[in-house]
Amino acid sequence: MITIDESKCIGCGLCAEDCFTKDIEVIEQKAKSKRIRCIECGHCIAVCPKNAIILENYPMSEVLEYEKGGLELDENQYLRALKFRRTIRQFSKKQVEIQKIEKIIEAGRYSPTGGNQQNVSYCVVRDDIDPLRNMAIDELNKIANLSDEEKEKLNISWYGDLWKQMYLDYHDQNRKDGLFFDAGTVILVLSESVHSACIAAAHMETMVYAQGLGMLYSGFFTRAVARSKEMKEYLMLSPGQEVVACLVIGYPSIKYQRTVPRKEARIVWR
Ligand SMILES: Cc1cc2nc3c(=O)[nH]c(=O)nc-3n(C[C@H](O)[C@H](O)[C@H](O)COP(=O)(O)O)c2cc1C
Repeated sequence: MITIDESKCIGCGLCAEDCFTKDIEVIEQKAKSKRIRCIECGHCIAVCPKNAIILENYPMSEVLEYEKGGLELDENQYLRALKFRRTIRQFSKKQVEIQKIEKIIEAGRYSPTGGNQQNVSYCVVRDDIDPLRNMAIDELNKIANLSDEEKEKLNISWYGDLWKQMYLDYHDQNRKDGLFFDAGTVILVLSESVHSACIAAAHMETMVYAQGLGMLYSGFFTRAVARSKEMKEYLMLSPGQEVVACLVIGYPSIKYQRTVPRKEARIVWR
C-alpha cells in the first residue's frame, strides 16, 4: 500500500490521473489513496513532482531519480544485438560470477507482471546441477520410451529419439551432457503465471548477452520437470508453481561470424 506525505503533496492530481486502478482521488487539494485496489505498481511514486509518495514494505532506497540522458537504447544497435544473439551450446569452463547472476535476476525482477503480482521467483542452480541433470535425463528417457500413442498426445515428434540418445551418451560416454552442455549455471524461472515468467526470462536473456555471457533455454528441462513428481519435490515447487523457463548460462566457447536468416514475419495489417 502507498503512503502519501500530505505535507509534500500539492494536489496536482498527476498520481490520480495515472492510477490504473483508480485508487487515488484528490480531496481538498490533497491526494488520498482509497487503499482498496492499489496494486502497488508505483506509478504514483514515479509521476509525483514532489516525491511525496512511498510504498510501504518496499525498499524505497533503490528508487532512482530521472536524469536527462543515459536512458536511450539505440534502436539499430538493439536490433543488431538481437540478430547476432545465438543460442549457445558450447561453454568454457569459466564459472559465471555471482554479481553477473545478480544482475540477470535484477532484469527479471524489474520486468512487468500481470496485475503487478510480482509472482515470479528464481532458483539458481550451481552446486546441484548434477542431480537435476540426472533426474531430467532419466525423465526424458522415460518419456521417450512411452507408447507411440502416449507420445503422440504429448506432441513429442522426433525428440524421443534425441532423448534416448542423450540418455545413452550420458551413461555410456562419460556423462556427455546433451541437456545443459556442461554449463556451470542454470537459472530456473518459477511462477504460476506463464506469461509473466516468460517476459522476465526474455529480459534476463538480454542481460545475459549484455554481460558477455551466452545461454540456451532448455525446453527439454521444463518438459521433464512438468512430468516428474520427484523433480518437483526436489525443487520444492509450491502448488501451482511451474518451472516456466530454464536458462542454461555460461561463457561461450564459440564465436559466430554472421547472423542467420529468418522466415518472413507473418503480419496482418487491419
Ligand atoms: C522455448 C525454447 C525452448 C528451447 N529448448 C531448447 C532445448 O531444450 N535444448 C536446446 O539445445 N535448445 C533449445 N532451444 C533453442 C532453440 O533450438 C533455438 O532458439 C533455435 O534453434 C534458434 O536458434 P538461435 O536461438 O540460435 O537463433 C529452445 C528455445 C526456446 C525459445
